[in-house]
Amino acid sequence: MAPVPRPGATPPVSRAATYAHRGSSGLAPENTAAAFELAIAEGADYIETDVQLSADGELVIIHDVTLARTTDARTAYAYRAPWNVHDFTLAELKKLDAGGWYGTEFSGQRILTFDELLDLLGGRVGLNLELKSPAVNPGLAQAVAARLRRRREWIEPGARPQPLIVGSFDEQALRDFHTQLPDVPVSLITYDVPEGGKLTGLAGWIFSVNPDIRRLRPEDAVRVIEVGMALVPWTVDSPELWRWALDLGADGMITNYPYALRDMLHGRGRVPGAAGVVIEDISYHSPDAHVVLRNVSDQPVDVSGWYLRNQASDRIEVGAGYVIPPGGLLRVHTGPGTDDATTYHNGRTTGFWNSTNGDSAGLHRADGAIVDLYAYII
Ligand code: G3P
Ligand code: CA
Repeated sequence: MAPVPRPGATPPVSRAATYAHRGSSGLAPENTAAAFELAIAEGADYIETDVQLSADGELVIIHDVTLARTTDARTAYAYRAPWNVHDFTLAELKKLDAGGWYGTEFSGQRILTFDELLDLLGGRVGLNLELKSPAVNPGLAQAVAARLRRRREWIEPGARPQPLIVGSFDEQALRDFHTQLPDVPVSLITYDVPEGGKLTGLAGWIFSVNPDIRRLRPEDAVRVIEVGMALVPWTVDSPELWRWALDLGADGMITNYPYALRDMLHGRGRVPGAAGVVIEDISYHSPDAHVVLRNVSDQPVDVSGWYLRNQASDRIEVGAGYVIPPGGLLRVHTGPGTDDATTYHNGRTTGFWNSTNGDSAGLHRADGAIVDLYAYII
């Protein structure tokens, strides 16, 4: 496995901004009021979130172009596969549970409209709004601009209670939005930083670049900074990657774990915390995919009820009844197998750890608190 960059002795700094990716989505269901409220409470500078269009032209807050992963649409609308967001009216979307998939304590969370999102934010935090998948949401940029014109507090320079940035992977959608509301900063979300003259041209009207942290090379970061654009990579979910991004000169980071990032930026660094167990390694190859947990404390640690989430917030259990001795390890397998004193199997038959681009892992105690964060790049 390619290790994450470990740049060494960079001291924590507090200059970079914290963007809560889909809210505080490492601890609450993404893009829900629960995740947004948590991110605000944790002190995030921006909420990053995704907007699409319903069948009846309402602006709704959801990431995937289908409802299958983050709602109960498969059961609520069993005969409407593939559950494309844009095939459902707002009234139909409002009937869905957008939190129960993450944890029963979040059942009852609803898909928010864009207006509801703005009301919730209420000037308490900045907004980094992604125009999600304009190809399947035609007219999205114009619809967002039109709605913002009716929410003038968000678009009039000097009147904004908090900053607003509108981003997209789709350059044409960004141009469409920029044409409508040229005073609102826009950001280009990308896997790779555009080359040479292309980047210089974009710098004339685009405020920031959001590159994939897994593909960001130091020379790319230098080029972004040299053309005067802000550098805000996604999705940066481990202390090693946070320090790497800071080393590259990032102005901010988009993360699923805003409280832990803010801790690091303010020199506190409670992750990995005092629970004594760290994620030592992730072997992502099926069918033997597993995580190695190591007890780095001098006390036995009972990990009953602990669990792991991947970057998509899917969850596997660590193993009830396991006590890791000091210095000892526990291998947590995704798939089936025979358990023993140092090996626990979740018995799943589908993949869990991303084996294409890389992934990140959050290790949670039974009460949900984060014990450790880990990322790998392929
Ligand atoms: O803002 C960048 C990031 O949100 C893009 O990735 O797929 O999470 O929307 P995604
Ligand atoms: Ca996004």
